[in-house]
Amino acid sequence: MYIGVDYYPEHWPRERWETDARLMKEAGFNVVRMAEFAWIKMEPEEGRYEFSWLDEAIEILGSHGIKTILGTPTASMPAWVALKYPEVALVDKNGRRTPYGNRRFYCHSSATYRYLGQRITRAMAQHYSGNPHVIGWQIDNEFAGPKCYCETCLKTWHEWLKRKYGTIDRLNESWGTIFWSHCYRDFSEVPLPARESSNPSQQLDFARFHSAQVVSFQKNQVDIIRELCPDHFITHNFMGFAPEVDYYDLAKDLDFVSWDYYYNGAPYDKRLESYMSGAASHDLMRGVKGKNYWIMENSAGVLGWETMTRNLRPGEMRRMTFQNMAHGADGQVWFRWRTSRFGTEQYWHGLLSHDGIPGRRYHEAAGVAKELHNISAHIEGSSVVSRAAIMLSYEDRWALDIQKSSETLDYVKHLMKYYRALSRLGINVDFINQGQSLEGYKLLVMPTKFLLPEETAENVKNFVKNGGILITTFRSGVKDMNNLPYELTLPGLLREVTGVRVEEYEIIYNSTKYDVLMDGKTYKAQVFADWIIPETARALATYNEQGLTGYAAVTENSCGLGKAYYIGTEFESQEPYNELVARAVTESGIKAYGPLPEGVEVMVRTKGNTDFIFILNHSDAEVTVNTPDGLELLGGCTIKGQCTLPPGEVAVVKVDKEE
Ligand code: GAL
Repeated sequence: MYIGVDYYPEHWPRERWETDARLMKEAGFNVVRMAEFAWIKMEPEEGRYEFSWLDEAIEILGSHGIKTILGTPTASMPAWVALKYPEVALVDKNGRRTPYGNRRFYCHSSATYRYLGQRITRAMAQHYSGNPHVIGWQIDNEFAGPKCYCETCLKTWHEWLKRKYGTIDRLNESWGTIFWSHCYRDFSEVPLPARESSNPSQQLDFARFHSAQVVSFQKNQVDIIRELCPDHFITHNFMGFAPEVDYYDLAKDLDFVSWDYYYNGAPYDKRLESYMSGAASHDLMRGVKGKNYWIMENSAGVLGWETMTRNLRPGEMRRMTFQNMAHGADGQVWFRWRTSRFGTEQYWHGLLSHDGIPGRRYHEAAGVAKELHNISAHIEGSSVVSRAAIMLSYEDRWALDIQKSSETLDYVKHLMKYYRALSRLGINVDFINQGQSLEGYKLLVMPTKFLLPEETAENVKNFVKNGGILITTFRSGVKDMNNLPYELTLPGLLREVTGVRVEEYEIIYNSTKYDVLMDGKTYKAQVFADWIIPETARALATYNEQGLTGYAAVTENSCGLGKAYYIGTEFESQEPYNELVARAVTESGIKAYGPLPEGVEVMVRTKGNTDFIFILNHSDAEVTVNTPDGLELLGGCTIKGQCTLPPGEVAVVKVDKEE
């Protein structure tokens, strides 16, 4: 198993490198990521390459048994690039070219920037293809936005639209440009949607266009490395729930996904929320490629650019590393080795502080590395098998960002209510894309499935008819993939499977909440209210609000061998989600280790007939979780039916299942 740090030898005197390598080795580290921000050191002037410093660093680390992942350096360009080729800098919505400084301000469409990026990538790949210490590559760093509105983007956009629509009439029809007389006669007339409230179909296509530009920018570099370094892996460091790029597409050209996980941005007493969104991010990062992933950057201390966050509490780094592993991480890299003295990240702490002396955080990481090496033979090759899935589509996120429907609707926050309820039950959860096969799943949560392709509606219907349990919500089935509302009564293509008709709907203002009655209890509803008339469905909850009395808020519908729940509003509290999801999970027949005490996570990795049950106690209380009999790998004790953990502890229980 690879465990290590992000290392910036270019920030430290050459005399220090040996000490760093020795300390890393003593900590049990065997990998570093380097060079992703070192373009100026590798190409100090155009076309002149300087790799001797990096060769030396790689060699020193290599002689200590530490392998290298190289980053291609395009996230931050040297000043000579910006000065010589000003057209590579991003142009904002108002037509202003971004001044030099900071990072990530290049235009992804720029042929010049792509060329310069490919050239340094090729030079690096040629130079390092035969280096025995180099094992893989990270392309660029944290692809995302911002979107660019330059002349090159405009031209590329026209070509992209032409490829997509073929004829301008088709574009006009697909976007509904007749509205406000925005019909175009030629692709060359179509602007970038820089104005507020531009046509929503145009805006959605622009989001797709931006994402596609990023994916092809990455692919340019991937192709070079694949050709020159066929034995090296290629990854990229993703950012959890970041919305700008369709991560399913970005993941396609890579060997595996990596992601950057920083979890100490909130006060310690609010940590459980950020751990929970971390847990969901892990599952999404596993989901976008459908396989195990790496952590390429992970909290190593206080974070901060201009201001700082809290520090990591003793034991927290260890526990969170096990959270990474529990959800399917196969590699663990902390950001960064030593806290920078330079630039805007002087407060973003590494395992070592500015003084370079190994302290508490270094020793804790070394302890975890040792534990991971001890259990790696067991868990290597294991994967996370889930019977429950949440459908997450980037196109829905973009469309809901363009037209939020309700000021307070937040796609991820809403989805997290379902995730939290599933996590509390101690079951594995996958994130899946629309269009993905539903085979193997017993429960599908499909929150705010705003844009609903016909094939997805069909798949979901068959899934339920064949015995699956579906949970879907308000703002589902509203639009087609052109971002145009269907000419159907809502929930449109989901009407048969959910057995409901949404007669009318409205938003719920943030200043008020509606009462909803369910199972003899009253809950507060917010964000949105579908006024539901059950057709074949049965009402589980009804509104108690002037004018809405008699309308259902939550329904269930048997359809074929399965069942569909429709939740027409967002509840303020977590409790109704816990109850509804628990009910759906029971009906689905999925084996659950919960309900778990607050702050406890259970995830299972499986290899052949062996389960590895990861139990994490993030809480301040001692907890007991029911498990099958097995062997706890970290402490080496036998588990009989129950595992008890003190506050902050973790356990990995190995259970051999019967054939
Ligand atoms: C990450 C980024 C790193 C470093 C870190 C701390 O998002 O990939 O390069 O900047 O944040 O700011």
